[in-house]
Amino acid sequence: MELINDLKNFEGKIVQLQGWVANKRTGKGLFFIILRDGTGFCQCVVDEKGVSSDDFEAAKKLTMESSCQLSGTVVKDDKQIGGFEVRVSTLSIIHIAEEFPIAKKEHGVDFLMDKRHLWLRSQRQWAIMRIRNVIIFAIHEYFQNNGFIQMDAPLFTGNAVEGTSTLFETDFYGDPAYLSQSGQLYGEAMAMAHNKIYTFGPTFRAEKSKTRRHLSEFWMIEPEMAFYDLDMNMDLIESMLKSIVNAVIKKCAFELKLVDRDVTKLEMINQKFPRLTYDEAVRILKGEQDVNGQNSIKTLENDLNEVKEKIASLQKDIDGREEKIKTAGLKQGEINFNQNKITELKNDIKELEDRADNIPAWLGSAKEFEYGNDFGGSDETVITRLFDCPIMVYNWPHEVKAFYLKRDKNNPRFAKGVDVLAPEGYGEIIGGGERETDIEQLKEKIIEHKLPMDAFEWYLDLRRYGSVKHSGFGLGLERLVAWVCKLPHVRETIPFPRMYGRLFP
Ligand code: 4AD
Ligand code: MG
Repeated sequence: MELINDLKNFEGKIVQLQGWVANKRTGKGLFFIILRDGTGFCQCVVDEKGVSSDDFEAAKKLTMESSCQLSGTVVKDDKQIGGFEVRVSTLSIIHIAEEFPIAKKEHGVDFLMDKRHLWLRSQRQWAIMRIRNVIIFAIHEYFQNNGFIQMDAPLFTGNAVEGTSTLFETDFYGDPAYLSQSGQLYGEAMAMAHNKIYTFGPTFRAEKSKTRRHLSEFWMIEPEMAFYDLDMNMDLIESMLKSIVNAVIKKCAFELKLVDRDVTKLEMINQKFPRLTYDEAVRILKGEQDVNGQNSIKTLENDLNEVKEKIASLQKDIDGREEKIKTAGLKQGEINFNQNKITELKNDIKELEDRADNIPAWLGSAKEFEYGNDFGGSDETVITRLFDCPIMVYNWPHEVKAFYLKRDKNNPRFAKGVDVLAPEGYGEIIGGGERETDIEQLKEKIIEHKLPMDAFEWYLDLRRYGSVKHSGFGLGLERLVAWVCKLPHVRETIPFPRMYGRLFP
């Protein structure tokens, strides 16, 4: 048995394939089956003259997502998905599928999420999961090649790390425990034992909001390095992201094409990442400081005009096609073609209209942004619209950041945190910083954040026994996948998303 992924090694030879029918077209005495076997997609042509009549009957019976086994000759054909075609010589049915609920026509995303267990089979979802896999591998590879020890932090914890408002509480033998919001505190302890460590695990946040960036369960990678300051931390972040994205570019050309990703945009990763202070980022957001001659407010106003013009031109296209359908004597095929096109265009308009609605709101909140606040999702969108590679925003007002961040001795209004914002409007994918080593300062912060001192005694020990400067960060896997694939929402980046309002399938 061969795999579709390996067809390049079998040109001109006979292969045997097992898979599912992703699509089937009928021609004169012919069936064109797009077979998928999980490793790839391939057009398999069943010609009445090339197979037994039983096998031709079997091909006739195949419905969408039926499973089958076939053999045939591999022919190179650049026009076909995957670059090869198989001329079938034998075919047998494994299982005839009932009518598949996900048809070719456009479905709403809620419907598709309900059918997630089946939606995962579609080309686009398949490509996303493969890119996710390559990203995961590249992350491990990067850290393993750079002297980091992988550690597993506990998932039941007694400590709130990232604020008390997003905790999932569970019952731990009669006592309350929380599902982990971050492995960082445990990572700090392990870094004092192993110098450089990273965690790679599930993370839980009770986010009662439906945004395109938030999941209730997501995967976070948290490196922690002894003797690192904020600058070294930022150097590491930059080198790690470059290495991950370059791995995807190298290994996922086909998948990136399936998700329609402009690879030249990803290649921008190889520039030096701009490093901005919070103060600079605020000025950019409010349109008081330009980036390479571009102004955030003016750029968005232009975007809005462009969106409006685009909507008008799509509408004109729809009108033209609707007129054409009415023409007397038009072939049914042509009518169907135009009708499908109209549905597609209407969907495009809906998306653009959402954008047209959003932009004025983003503009409003950018102009009104109050210095000292944390950035919201829309603020990050406005700022990163002006950049084509990730940016690092550092030196944050200490009030808006976590208790464990080091205060800047020279400028105590600021904490040595860093947020990494992905370009093209994506926003935060990494949060991190240098850790507070001053035990009195830490205790003050724990009190200020109304956290239970008892639960943090073990953490304070790290400042009692050979305390050293150290830093780390947390990378949100799904946010990274969403940006790399340029997806509108994180829900498509994980096989079975858990988020506010969704626990099934
Ligand atoms: O910025 P956050 O909250 O930082 C921490 O948890 C630190 N303890 C990390 C550290 O320094 N070791 O979260 C880190 C990243 C975010 O930048 C984002 O990418 C992701 O985790 N993230 C989420 N991803 C999906 N859904 C959510 N609800 C997320 N919350 C955070
Ligand atoms: Mg953050």
